[in-house]
Amino acid sequence: MFGVALVLANLAPEVPPLIPLPQSQKVLGTTPFAVKTDTKINSEQPLFAVQELRTIFPSAPLADSPVRAANQINFRREPTFQAEQYVLNVAPTRIDIAYGDASGALYAVETLRQLANQNQVLSYRIEDKPRFSWRGWHLDVSRHFFTVAEVKRSLDQMARYKLNRFHWHLVDDGGWRIALDRYPELTKKGAYRKSEPWSYSKIELTTDTKGYGGFYTKQEVRDVVAYAKERGITVVPEIEMPGHTLPSIHAFPSLGCRDAKRIPDNSWVTNVYCAGKELPFQFLEDVLSEVVELFPSPWIHIGGDEVDKKWWRECEDCQERIKTEKLKDENELQSYFIRRIEKLVNAKGRRMIGWDEILEGGLAPNATVMSWRGIEGGIAAAKSGHDVVMSPTSHCYFDYGYPSVSTEHVYSWDPVPKELKGKEAERVLGGQANVWTEWIPDVRRYDMMVWPRMLAMSEVLWSTAPKDFTAFSKRVNASYPLLEQMGVDYYLEEPVTETSFFFNKAPTVFSSSQFARPVYFQVDPKAPAEQWELLGQHELPANKAFYVAYKRNNGTLGDIAELYRSDKIAPVPAGSVVSGLKVSFWEGTYKSCRDFEELSPKGSGVANGVGLFARPRANNYALRFTGKIRFPGRKFKLYLTSDDGSVLRLNGIKVINHDGPHGDTTKSVGVEVADGVYDFDLRYFEAGGGSALRLEVEGSGLKRQPVPQSWFSR
Ligand code: ACM
Ligand code: ZN
Repeated sequence: MFGVALVLANLAPEVPPLIPLPQSQKVLGTTPFAVKTDTKINSEQPLFAVQELRTIFPSAPLADSPVRAANQINFRREPTFQAEQYVLNVAPTRIDIAYGDASGALYAVETLRQLANQNQVLSYRIEDKPRFSWRGWHLDVSRHFFTVAEVKRSLDQMARYKLNRFHWHLVDDGGWRIALDRYPELTKKGAYRKSEPWSYSKIELTTDTKGYGGFYTKQEVRDVVAYAKERGITVVPEIEMPGHTLPSIHAFPSLGCRDAKRIPDNSWVTNVYCAGKELPFQFLEDVLSEVVELFPSPWIHIGGDEVDKKWWRECEDCQERIKTEKLKDENELQSYFIRRIEKLVNAKGRRMIGWDEILEGGLAPNATVMSWRGIEGGIAAAKSGHDVVMSPTSHCYFDYGYPSVSTEHVYSWDPVPKELKGKEAERVLGGQANVWTEWIPDVRRYDMMVWPRMLAMSEVLWSTAPKDFTAFSKRVNASYPLLEQMGVDYYLEEPVTETSFFFNKAPTVFSSSQFARPVYFQVDPKAPAEQWELLGQHELPANKAFYVAYKRNNGTLGDIAELYRSDKIAPVPAGSVVSGLKVSFWEGTYKSCRDFEELSPKGSGVANGVGLFARPRANNYALRFTGKIRFPGRKFKLYLTSDDGSVLRLNGIKVINHDGPHGDTTKSVGVEVADGVYDFDLRYFEAGGGSALRLEVEGSGLKRQPVPQSWFSR
């Protein structure tokens, strides 16, 4: 008996890698259901889900059957189920799907897609429904334009992972993207720009359709909305106002304050709709009338974020409005503006949603708030009885890099803050990932910014199952083939190496990433993927940089890490034992450490370590620290933080290159050294704005800390 039980246990299927995790899942047995050439489908209603089902098993015809029966996949609407709810029951003889609505049926099929292995599906019972009703994906098509086909591709991906609100950011300073009958000038004058790549200060709109940009015709919008609807997705259009609307004010300067013509100065701070004149309200009523006709969404997003109130402060009409409406200030003027817009939206039978700035000066009575500058706006709105969609930059901004919004970080998110309880918590409709596209010029980059962390967002918004990131990572790994089938170029981190700069020794340890994969290497980072070879099969090159990366399952390369191994360099003689480093300084406007290296310094002195205590003046200067450093161990991680650029060399070799003008950021590198004294050389420049310089170390038993003074000598 014991032996038999053991065999059965071995045969029992592993828990399949579903994302998002369902409410409940149960293995029913070890015999799968097999889809055969005579397997049929029964559905009492015409369902898009049935069409999708056929894409899972393309080799089986899956003819329609008029009755529920065995050797069939049977769909049945269950009136007691809520929207999006489903039960998927896979037995060896049949598959039964019960659903609350068409979305529920589709989600059952998408779950089935993840369970299917060729033509077989595990015997399984899944009972499932979402935690949140708003599971959003926002796409900015203004800063960079995405075609109808590209938008549909996102909608397909959303349906796969049970996301259901597509927030289409159609208006912003980068271009007006929706053609309206009443105002053809909006897309004629506002949909193309001369400059690309993206630069806020260089937006110059043009009527030349050979410029960068594009727009959607009404027919295309209807097509997208219908395509989304089939997939259970509501398209929520965003028409930005009163700020972030350069194109409309460019097309109709009298919509702005003071009829300003050429609006962008040298920043994103562009002109806004004048809240003193009536014209913008008439214009927006016309615009919204056409918008609601195109979009059946119950919500219309009116933006409301980042309004530069300087325009209103300096505008006679706006100041007059503040007086006549007895408003306190420009915040209340914004509130006045948004309330008027809400009336228009409500009069058309729709609900207004806006970014959390619409709270300033008093929230419009029926507004839904999208909380992005944190969660405070969302908490305040929920406490005052308003619906809320959480989308804080901390977890939901997928234009941010993975180091700041990692997959793990997204996964750890709870859209309901602990401050909200009971009825207040129920005000949180859900959450949303936002894809702003200033730095996302194409689909390849888009894919990488979205995947795999959208998998984490999907689970956060759908599932109530307890969080376990290790287990989730395994399911992420198992999801890559499905993403690759969809042609997704997901982000694949660079291999994490304990050390990436080696003196004498080859690296031995690559700390395993959560997405453990073999490591490939090349001396030429531009070499095609197939020429990258498995690390460990060859001697590593010495005294030159080499590169390592993971490969996706389809053979393409992930992010590339640069490593360096030196076999020539031994610790230099200790020489003098005078403590401290020599510091030299330059005065001038530099953009790179190269700019001052050849110049004679203005002066010099001694510093106890690396930092800005040696700064010669507030702005526009450079420093160079030279001397020796003794490492009391073998493996260390060095962190170089600077604002602006800095470069660290050991024995003349560039170990950290953090050069160029930039804000307060950190670059780190692992070094593996022989115990001893090395030549130390750190260059730094400050080019206006903030300033920072820190060199920290951790490893060989040390917690991260500034490099101790006692390590330096000259
Ligand atoms: C926003 O990110 N400005 C809503
Ligand atoms: Zn004005």
